[in-house]
Parts: sequence; C-alpha cells; structure tokens
Amino acid sequence: VRTTTTTVAFRAELDRARAAGRSVGLVPTMGALHDGHASLVERAAQECDEVAVTIFVNPLQFAPTEDLAAYPRDPDGDARRSAEAGATVLFTPDEDEMYPDGRDGVLTSVSVEALAGVMEGASRPDHFAGVCTVVAKLFNLAGPCRAYFGEKDFQQLAVIRRMVGDLSFPVEVVGCPTVREPDGLAMSSRNRYLTDEERRAAPVLVGALRAGAAAYVGGCTDPGSIRRTMADVVEASPVGTLDYVEVVDAATLRPVGVVGPGCRLFGAVRFGRARLIDNIPVDDTVDDSAPDDGDVGGASP
Ligand code: PAF
Repeated sequence: VRTTTTTVAFRAELDRARAAGRSVGLVPTMGALHDGHASLVERAAQECDEVAVTIFVNPLQFAPTEDLAAYPRDPDGDARRSAEAGATVLFTPDEDEMYPDGRDGVLTSVSVEALAGVMEGASRPDHFAGVCTVVAKLFNLAGPCRAYFGEKDFQQLAVIRRMVGDLSFPVEVVGCPTVREPDGLAMSSRNRYLTDEERRAAPVLVGALRAGAAAYVGGCTDPGSIRRTMADVVEASPVGTLDYVEVVDAATLRPVGVVGPGCRLFGAVRFGRARLIDNIPVDDTVDDSAPDDGDVGGASP
C-alpha cells in the first residue's frame, strides 16, 4: 500500500494510475475499520485496478456536543485491514492538510437540503452539509472513479448520490449491503462504545425494523401503525432510548400516506455513549443470520 498524507500526493497518485490506464475505486472512511468497511474495499478491489481508502475523521460533520474527540482512532489497525482487503493507496491527511485555514475557515458548504432535513438530518442539523463538503473535496482530489459507500448509512448514500448527480462529479457511486454481526446488529465503528449490557441489547434496533417489515408483509400499510410497531419493540427494551423510527419512500426519503414496495424502514436508538442507526427495505424479512441484501422494492404483501 502506498500511503499519502498530502492532498497533492494523493491527487498525483490517482492521476498517475489513470494515466497508466488503471481504473480507480475510492472508499472514503473515518477509520476504525471493521468488516463492513472491509467489504467495501473488497468490492472495490474486485471492480477496480487501484483502490484508494481515505481515512479522515471529519470535524465538519460533528456537532459540538457530539463525539469528535472520542471517535475511535486506530491508524495501525486501519492500515493493516485496508491492505488485507485489497487497498493499494491510503490517504491519511491530518486536519491542517484538509482544512489549512482551520475547520472554521472552511467558508464553502455543500448541502442537499431536501434529502438532508429528515431523520438523521433532523436529529443532527449540520451533519450532512459536513459530510457533503468533505466528500466533495475527496471526489475533487480523487478524480474520476467509482466510490463505494455502505447502505447502513442509507440516507448518506442518497444525499451523496444526489450531490454527484446535481454537480456532475465524474464519480459512479456504488451502494453496498449492510454487514451485520451474527445477531443482526449492523457493524459500525460506534459499536465500540457499547458496554457489555448495551451490546447485548443493541440488536433490538434491527429487531424493531424487522417487526415493522413483518407488519407490512402481514398486510399493514398504515405508516403510523408500522412506526408504532417499531417504537414498541425499542421501548420494551430496558436498555436503549428511542431517537426515531420512520418509514419513508427510499428514493425521496419523504413520508408516505400508504406504505408500499419501494419504502424503507429507518431507526436510531441511543445506547449510553453510542447512538446507533440502521435501516432495511420494508419487505425485508430475513432472519438474523442472513445478510441484508439491500434490495429496495420487491414483492407486495
Ligand atoms: O461514512 C463515513 O464514514 C463518513 O461520513 C464519510 C463518508 C467518510 C465522510 O466523512
């Protein structure tokens, strides 16, 4: 793996690769890599000649009250995992390199209002502008490429896809299925915050989403009832505080009057220091041991 720490070196590395006729895959991350990230790198390695993994904990996407300082950092483990999964280039800039005038000196912000104001955006108001701004910068540095993002952050994926379309970035965005632990918990760097008791309770989030899917598959198409079914599951757990559960159109992320194919179920639950999010298609009734295939749509009830 060739490690680059400056924007100039990173851009030059990928420009050189393309000049030699090699295709480029990009996997933007904030480090603390787990099997979910590894699956993105492996997919990129199957589809591209060069695979660049970026590791940067982006301060712009954290509110002052959030976990920026505590966010898990594991540079050696990240380098090893990236290489094992097939990365050929690492980009590990520090904050001064990404934001030479300081994070408050970044005067440009990219936002995708209509998709970013609901769910995660409602709970974390400046979050997606911070994500889009850093991803736009990474895309500008990387140049033409395929960029891989996990469906665990489905709203982020939708926002980035729209940004790429609206601003004509020469980037093909590839969404990849959520990777889950055997008990169904979606892999996330923030799972490291969980105490043993919280870790045992955490699959209640995907359990709630699957209860919502089962209600839909069983014939319920009322969004309020499906939200209530999901909330009841979380609220019955002695551990974990519900932030939100939602059923929305997967393309627009807007609420629907009648739930149907193409809808998706979303939830966020706080377990102590960890705020976990997850989502599944409305007709997903897979059991805990089966991977979420990430399909949107499918059979009607
Ligand atoms: O999903 C993440 O890890 C981050 O939001 C991203 C896309 C790397 C931007 O900082």
